[in-house]
Amino acid sequence: MVPQPAPSRWTRVKTLATATIVKTRPFAEALTYTQELISNRVSQVLTGDDVLSDAMRYALSGGKMLRGFLVLESAQLHDVDENVALDAALAIECIHAYSLVHDDLPCMDDDDLRRGMPTVHRQWDEGMAVLAGDALQTFAFELLSDAKFGPNALELIRLLAQSAGKEGMVSGQMLDITAETSLEPLNLQQITRLQNRKTGCLFSWSAMAGAVIAGADTTPLRQYADALGLAFQISDDILDVEGDAETVGKRVRKDAEAGKATFVSLLGLDVAKARAAELCDQACAALDVYGDQGETLREAARFVISRDS
Ligand code: IPE
Ligand code: IPE
Ligand code: MG
Ligand code: MG
Ligand code: MG
Repeated sequence: MVPQPAPSRWTRVKTLATATIVKTRPFAEALTYTQELISNRVSQVLTGDDVLSDAMRYALSGGKMLRGFLVLESAQLHDVDENVALDAALAIECIHAYSLVHDDLPCMDDDDLRRGMPTVHRQWDEGMAVLAGDALQTFAFELLSDAKFGPNALELIRLLAQSAGKEGMVSGQMLDITAETSLEPLNLQQITRLQNRKTGCLFSWSAMAGAVIAGADTTPLRQYADALGLAFQISDDILDVEGDAETVGKRVRKDAEAGKATFVSLLGLDVAKARAAELCDQACAALDVYGDQGETLREAARFVISRDS
């Protein structure tokens, strides 16, 4: 049974004689708030004055911080203190940033542009990009290894290791690069598995984090994130075909060129778009149990399939 989400400062609550009207904070405002909160936290905790710290701070800057946003929303739904949730939000942004720094390396996708800026190996060199990624990954676990996460800290850490590791994101990246050279194109089931792992796993951890910290049922948020993660990767694949580099902030038309296995490569743009819309509806429906309190997360799902960067 999922506990009734408690109102917090992200919500305006007006109690009438017979009913409570809850107005959630609009998504755009909540996302901007997340970006400010996480960026400020980075300045507080990543203070090194060496080149590795510079590269780590650089890798953490300029992103949408959607995963961090999911952590904060999930925490808010479960009445978890924002200062505790913030370090979990930063932890997942560290893992995500590391995955991108390594994803862009010449031995992976070989990209020069990320978030409208030179990739870390272009700004410094490949060695520094490998090390910045390594250090971001370990820093995420350092952030979570704090008594403030309470009795469920170990579970939070274990789930992150699983989501990011050999059966999670890294496994998805392996499936992605091996598909480039495989003789047979992947089928729908194989692409779904690849994308669930490559992208979905980090989304799932993010959306469940608040419930895990609170010791609450994670099922609705996991279902939400499973659909959202897939929709997100489909929209990333669509942007690769339809977007322009300046708006998207990274090179486009690269998937087909590299022989990537995507929903778009298998099904074409129209079916991929229809699938993303279906997944958005599924994600929203999974939040029924949260009633109006889930509205910001529903807005996030609609943003994911309509975004242009
Ligand atoms: C890009 O993720 C990598 C994928 C999983 C497709 P985002 O689009 O969330 O990247 P940033 O963090 O906003 O740059
Ligand atoms: C990257 O997927 C996913 C991870 C880094 C785990 P992509 O290779 O499609 O991401 P972009 O398009 O470079 O952002
Ligand atoms: Mg890639
Ligand atoms: Mg890439
Ligand atoms: Mg991509």
